[in-house]
Amino acid sequence: MLVGFATGDDAGVYRLTDDLALVQTVDFFTPIVDDPYDFGRIAAANALSDVYAMGGKPLTALNIAAFPVEELGTDVLARILEGGAAVAREAGVTILGGHTVKDDEPKYGLAVTGTIRPDAIVTHAGARPGDLLLLSKPVGTGILATARKRDLIGEEAMLPAIAQMTRLNDRAAAAMVAHGAHAATDITGFGLVGHGGEMARASNVALAIDAHRVPLFPGVLELIERGAVPGGSKDNLAEHAHFAHYAGGVDDALRLALSDAQTSGGLLIAVPPAGAQGILDDLADLDTVVVIGEVLAGPAGAIIVR
Ligand code: CO
Ligand code: CO
Repeated sequence: MLVGFATGDDAGVYRLTDDLALVQTVDFFTPIVDDPYDFGRIAAANALSDVYAMGGKPLTALNIAAFPVEELGTDVLARILEGGAAVAREAGVTILGGHTVKDDEPKYGLAVTGTIRPDAIVTHAGARPGDLLLLSKPVGTGILATARKRDLIGEEAMLPAIAQMTRLNDRAAAAMVAHGAHAATDITGFGLVGHGGEMARASNVALAIDAHRVPLFPGVLELIERGAVPGGSKDNLAEHAHFAHYAGGVDDALRLALSDAQTSGGLLIAVPPAGAQGILDDLADLDTVVVIGEVLAGPAGAIIVR
């Protein structure tokens, strides 16, 4: 075992030979959008992301689904699976099979297997003082999904977030490996500050996040002011108080946005400045990759939001 439970990394890694290792992960959840096809695409992109976050290449996957067949019918389930299959195809991943159980609430995701070179694993633990922090997608998907459930926004206001949640982190992963990233993670349920905190602890460094440089989806701060905040994001913010230090200019709404639970979020990458420029150049056409801060020597495990 090269990477297991202990470091809280995105996926497990198991060595097969000196230059080949398996990388494995599983992820599934309840729908966060109305359309079953979009839900399938998002769940698949989210599951694959944990392989990309370590610099691996996903090869095969198994569907995991729970579904109330009597109430919703098999057509809806088929659309979810089609969405997952479309994203898997885009990733060059073969879905080998899967398993569905009856359940009151739909759930879907993938168990993913990929490969990685043992000497090229990008974990949470390698960030070094002087590295820059790059983020590859905007944040605020939890806020938008909650606002949509409460009918505060229409479907069209979800489209920018759906476009990003269905987007693979494959190119961000290739760019970070090519340009010598020291550490990375994907931003999901613990929010930007939470996943950043994992990196800071594992790497024994502090991360400074320039709050006003973090890209947010349109409408996020206004929707927070209107109360559209998922319970998980409020819990995150409370939990992050143990290690996050906020400058006075970072108001409550922005703090919540930075702790908002994400689905299929971007990669947070720690990389020396020259490599950061290389990644920005490689991904310039995506238009969403930005430098949001830097790695400091200490205090170890702290997130400094400034
Ligand atoms: Co992850
Ligand atoms: Co995960």
